[in-house]
Order: sequence, then structure tokens, then C-alpha cells
Amino acid sequence: MNLAVFCSGFGSNFQAILDSARKKKLRAKVALMICDNPKAYALKRAHQHQVPVFLFNPKLFKNRASYEKLIVRILKNQKVDLVVLAGFMRILTPYFIGAYRNRILNIHPSLLPRFKGAHAIRDAFNAGEKQTGVTVHVVTKEVDAGPIVLQQKVKISKRDTLKSLESKIHRVEHRLYPLAIQRYLRSLS
Ligand code: GRF
Repeated sequence: MNLAVFCSGFGSNFQAILDSARKKKLRAKVALMICDNPKAYALKRAHQHQVPVFLFNPKLFKNRASYEKLIVRILKNQKVDLVVLAGFMRILTPYFIGAYRNRILNIHPSLLPRFKGAHAIRDAFNAGEKQTGVTVHVVTKEVDAGPIVLQQKVKISKRDTLKSLESKIHRVEHRLYPLAIQRYLRSLS
């Protein structure tokens, strides 16, 4: 099974997926990375591990659908079976979601449906929650919704700072995402 991982930033989840695939815990190939940010550290990781990258500048396209059309062509060319969003900071249009219906996963740092949006860890922390978590879900037209593949709770203790909570969440993400991908791929075949 071929994966395309979409990244915009640090790429620590991309790294966890790569490591898992190399150890054969995740039985899939990271066929390529799609990236919209030339400054993303994720690009260095792809380079280090010889993962082909398609880096694009959204500003050079007429609209979202026009760069998505190009991406779909690339994914079809590379025979990608599953799209894995890992810190990709763009919302996909119904066109793209339709082209890969039930074949796009996302990871979100909260226990969805709680704390949707771009600041989920901070929002849960500021709300004084006793627990938050991580969710891997199938991407549908509605943002941060869609069927849940796996979810794990993370306790927020009194001693936690936003920073320590972020580290806890990221550690859980790195374990959960490869596992969820593996489980989801199995359900597809
Ligand atoms: C993760 O916290 C993920 O849940 C969210 O974006 C962050 C990406 O981090 N969607 P990284 O680029 O994988 O390090």
C-alpha cells in the first residue's frame, strides 16, 4: 500500500510514520510527501530518507481546486492508496475529498468532537480540562469530523504546563498514528 503524507511544518508525525514503516510495524510505503511550505522542517526529513517531495506554492494557483487537481494527478501517477494528513495546514475542497473518498486520514490533538480547530491543545489546557487526547479520523467534508479510527486519552495533571502537555500529546500521536494507519489499511483490503 502506498501512502502520501501531507505536511506543512515540523513533520514529527511524518517521521513516526516513516520509522514505523521502516521497522515493518506499518506495512506500507511512504511513496511521497506533499508540502505547501518551503520552510517546513518536514522537507529535511523527507530529503534525509529519500522520500520524493512535491512542494507547491498555493499562491501561484488560481484557487484551491486548481492545485488540488495537480496533486490528484500526481497521487494517481504514484498509485497512492491512502492520503495521510500530518500537520497539513490547508483545508481540502469537496473535489479532493471526493477523489479520495474514505481514503484520507487526519490526526487531531484532542478528543474529537471536543476542541476542533487549529489550537486544540491550548484550548483544552486553557479550559482547565482534566483530560484531552488524540484522535485519528477519516476526513469528510466537515472539518475535524468524520468517522474515528482510533482515539487515546491524555491526562492533564495539575503540574502540567502548556509545553509539557504538548509533549505528552505529541508522544501519544507518534505511537497512535502509525497504529491507526495500519488498522485502517487492514479494514480497506
Ligand atoms: C500535530 O499536533 C497534529 O495533531 C496536528 O498538527 C501537528 C503536526 O505536528 N494536526 P508535526 O508536523 O507532525 O510535528
